[in-house]
Amino acid sequence: MIEKGMETPATLNRQVQKMFSDIAPRYDLLNRLLSCGQDQYWRKRAVARLSPQAGERFLDIATGTADVALEIIRNVPPGAGQVVAMDFSEKMLELAQQKINTQNKADFIQLESGSAESLPFEDNSFDGTTTAFGIRNFSDVEQSLREMHRVLKPGGRCVILEFSLPKNSILNALYRFYFEVLLPKVGRLISKHPSAYTYLPETVAAFPVRKEFSDLMQQAGFMNVIYKELTFGIVILYTGTKQV
Ligand SMILES: C[S@@+](CC[C@H](N)C(=O)[O-])C[C@H]1O[C@@H](n2cnc3c(N)ncnc32)[C@H](O)[C@@H]1O
Repeated sequence: MIEKGMETPATLNRQVQKMFSDIAPRYDLLNRLLSCGQDQYWRKRAVARLSPQAGERFLDIATGTADVALEIIRNVPPGAGQVVAMDFSEKMLELAQQKINTQNKADFIQLESGSAESLPFEDNSFDGTTTAFGIRNFSDVEQSLREMHRVLKPGGRCVILEFSLPKNSILNALYRFYFEVLLPKVGRLISKHPSAYTYLPETVAAFPVRKEFSDLMQQAGFMNVIYKELTFGIVILYTGTKQV
């Protein structure tokens, strides 16, 4: 059982890393199933907000099986974009590499092993950073936001997707029944992991959202921070820029 707030950052990172490596083989299947296919739509919306242009270079943090990185490459003219896709789970990176090879995108997506709290990249080196459903898991959210800001070039865009809960009380109750009762059962059955799909609703309920998270982005140095609710507010798309 992972208890955020009870562990040191290093221990928490090790536990989260192991959990994601354990569920990696069934990760994509469960994403599609548990979101009823919406997860790919959310990533498309995020990449549309990023608005990747020919010749730009992007960093996808906590890339998992590289769905966002692949979506970025699909959105630039052939051969005209580069993505560094980073994660600290070797198993996720292995599956990401297989998917990238199958889609013939290995020339455009470079995989890196690394931690979001200490990005292994130089200052001002990317036109955009993306993080989809990753930041809630980071052991130090503020530090990871400062790191995103540091590696962006002036004028660079930061796009973050994260789960939330609907504000409407009826939708909230219905969704919580699905998210907190049904989803953990299906997740456990298919992934065979005892707690990963209980950890998901628990961490979502505890994570700062909407204005609270936007404030954290501003404190990390981002300008023009805005957020948009997707699918009745079960996912939120945050964007900010680094000052020119
Ligand atoms: C829920 S998955 C999201 C994967 C992918 N972005 C997607 O859209 O499906 C979270 C990923 O974050 C990675 N992760 C969690 N904490 C991390 C950290 N501190 N540094 C780097 N990767 C991390 C995990 O290994 C996992 O692959």
